Amino acid sequence: MSEYSVGGPDLPAGIAAGFDARDIDTSRPHPARMYDYYLGGWDNYEVDRAAAERVIEAHPQVRLSARANRAFLHRAVRDAVRDGIRQIIDIGTGIPTSPNTHEVARESHPGVRVAYVDNDPIVATHAGAKLTNAGDAEFVLADVRDPESILRHPAIRGIIDFDEPVALLLVAVLHFVKDEEDPAGIVATLGDALPAGSRLVLSHATGEPYEGYAPGRTDVEARDGVLDVYKNATAALNLRGKAEIEPLFGEFALLEPGLVRVPLWRPDGPVPGPEELNNTIFYGGVGRKG
Ligand SMILES: C[S@@+](CC[C@H](N)C(=O)[O-])C[C@H]1O[C@@H](n2cnc3c(N)ncnc32)[C@H](O)[C@@H]1O
Repeated sequence: MSEYSVGGPDLPAGIAAGFDARDIDTSRPHPARMYDYYLGGWDNYEVDRAAAERVIEAHPQVRLSARANRAFLHRAVRDAVRDGIRQIIDIGTGIPTSPNTHEVARESHPGVRVAYVDNDPIVATHAGAKLTNAGDAEFVLADVRDPESILRHPAIRGIIDFDEPVALLLVAVLHFVKDEEDPAGIVATLGDALPAGSRLVLSHATGEPYEGYAPGRTDVEARDGVLDVYKNATAALNLRGKAEIEPLFGEFALLEPGLVRVPLWRPDGPVPGPEELNNTIFYGGVGRKG
């Protein structure tokens, strides 16, 4: 293991990563680091910044979309904790961005336990300092496409009580899963392990125009430009329409207001107009089991 490796005998508390820093691929843009750049973070490399700038050129409002998606995550977490949920599994958590899930949750209740999961080693390198240092939180380096490995992971089983309701967060991650990798099956496997009263918080990128908007030539060009950039990234983007995203909730019954453009999900401030909603490329919703 190199001097930057995480997972040896000096493994920081709460990190179940176990990888070598040489696993960090800096030759190709990575979605986690591109997303970090959209949000104004510094944990990215030149290759990520160049790719992100190409996305911004094709779709200048991508930063707005990323911020709106993050705000959706915050509102959905607060809502779950206010409704009594005390444990969260946040898969595809991303490079830490304050406030992180545990910080938002603990504003409403200090005892919320959080299991963070991501398949990007660079997320793991920051997890000790920014996600798990406050205690009652774990980080696991794992892939959502192998949900059983997440469910049986000792670090997850150590912090999550599968007899008590859980908020499962799959926020802006399933669009990195191809149809043939069965995103609905992945959600079902994770959902089956959770008891009644659990919630699924899900957001997903779309290429679909907002209601009433006909896709103009520039929208189609923007979408194709964004897809092109992600084709060369470590994970390609799979945009889906509302009719494809809704079934991903499976046995989780959608709570009001259903699956909507993320700023419209239980807003806590002014709602943007139709043009901004058209440019906000995420659908989001929350479902409840049982
Ligand atoms: C767009 S970021 C979303 C971050 C955060 N959930 C949010 O919405 O603000 C997507 C994250 O999903 C992670 N990811 C992509 N594919 C994944 C996979 N197959 N398994 C686990 N994580 C994955 C990326 O590494 C990245 O950190």
